[in-house]
Amino acid sequence: KKVVLAYSGGLDTSAIIPWLKENYDCDVVAFAADVGQGEEELEGLHEKAIASGASECYIVDLKEEFVKDYIFPTIQTGAVYEGEYLLGTSMARPVIAKAQVEVARKVGADALCHGCTGKGNDQVRFEGAFAALAPDLKVIAPWREWDMVSREDLLDYLATRNIKTTASATKIYSRDANAWHISHEGGELEDPWCEPSKQVWTMTVDPEDAPDAPETVQLSFQEGMITHVNGELLSPLQALEKLNGIAAAHGVGRIDIVENRLVGMKSRGCYETPGGTLIYKGYKAIETLVLDKHSLKHRESLGLEFSHVLYDGRWFTPLCQALLAGAQAFAQQITGDVVIKLYKGNATVIQKASVNSLYSEDFATFGADDVYDQKHAEGFIRLYSLASRIKAMQAKQ
Ligand code: ARG
Ligand code: SIN
Repeated sequence: KKVVLAYSGGLDTSAIIPWLKENYDCDVVAFAADVGQGEEELEGLHEKAIASGASECYIVDLKEEFVKDYIFPTIQTGAVYEGEYLLGTSMARPVIAKAQVEVARKVGADALCHGCTGKGNDQVRFEGAFAALAPDLKVIAPWREWDMVSREDLLDYLATRNIKTTASATKIYSRDANAWHISHEGGELEDPWCEPSKQVWTMTVDPEDAPDAPETVQLSFQEGMITHVNGELLSPLQALEKLNGIAAAHGVGRIDIVENRLVGMKSRGCYETPGGTLIYKGYKAIETLVLDKHSLKHRESLGLEFSHVLYDGRWFTPLCQALLAGAQAFAQQITGDVVIKLYKGNATVIQKASVNSLYSEDFATFGADDVYDQKHAEGFIRLYSLASRIKAMQAKQ
């Protein structure tokens, strides 16, 4: 029997390897996704997996696919979970799960395994994807089965099996990093009255320590995709990486929220999405030029719906495809340039232009023009408010 494990090299998934072998009498194939979490996490992963007892280890580079097929389609929907969270972990789970299933097919596995706890969203996202893509494969979620509860338990477990680890007993935060963001949960953050300490943040400069001089950056979009940063032609991944560097230096993209998990509980999390914050702001600025009132209203409700579909782990569903297709229709029009000014944690759009802009100084001006006859407004308002007039007349009778 063979199990493919979504492996990160951390303490949890390291302990899962021997645990699977003992409890399921199987070979364990480690699978690690490179979604842009950085060299540090990926370094030596292969050797580590084998040393922990995996029979094989696959490391798959998903960075370009993640940015092109998951992040940008999501941006096009305008999805922001509960008004703040830019969904960095939610978007990464489906691309990881899909690649994990592909490895499982390749090696002829019978089961899929992940290291998510039984209290969170991620278990739902992984298993939602598994259900849609590989309903025939068994799913194993050790955190819902074993009775280990602490890092000490996991370290003891590995020690009694003579498996070396560099993990320490104290690791304060639970973090999840990729090309788009990093999330931080746990430790003192569990108390919402507690301000995050400086050591929480890892991706961005503290806005208080950011440069005293502002910096401007230009983003160009073509049919809903980013194409240039400061005039330089880049792939979506390259653009994101470049913007991460620029925004991080100015402390842009930090949020600190309490959110509703799908499983019913609230959790407190801090997130850093530096480049993503610039891309969202820039994209939305172009939308304001391009989309008419009714289109923008629909795009907003679509984004709200999509934020839940994505957060709740329903990427591989017809509803998700339908919402993405709707967003794509609007995205065709999102072509243009924006300039954003960065200053001590703030990012403000200061210039915007689009070939598809419906905005016209000639029409908006208070001077005379020939498309808009103010006399027409009288009849428009008369009919537009007719129902109110009729109701008021009736009430009088
Ligand atoms: N609360 C966020 C979300 O549900 C982040 C989860 C982070 N996951 C993790 N395994 N550390 O999307
Ligand atoms: C976990 O519980 O594994 C991480 C947090 C989450 O999934 O929401």
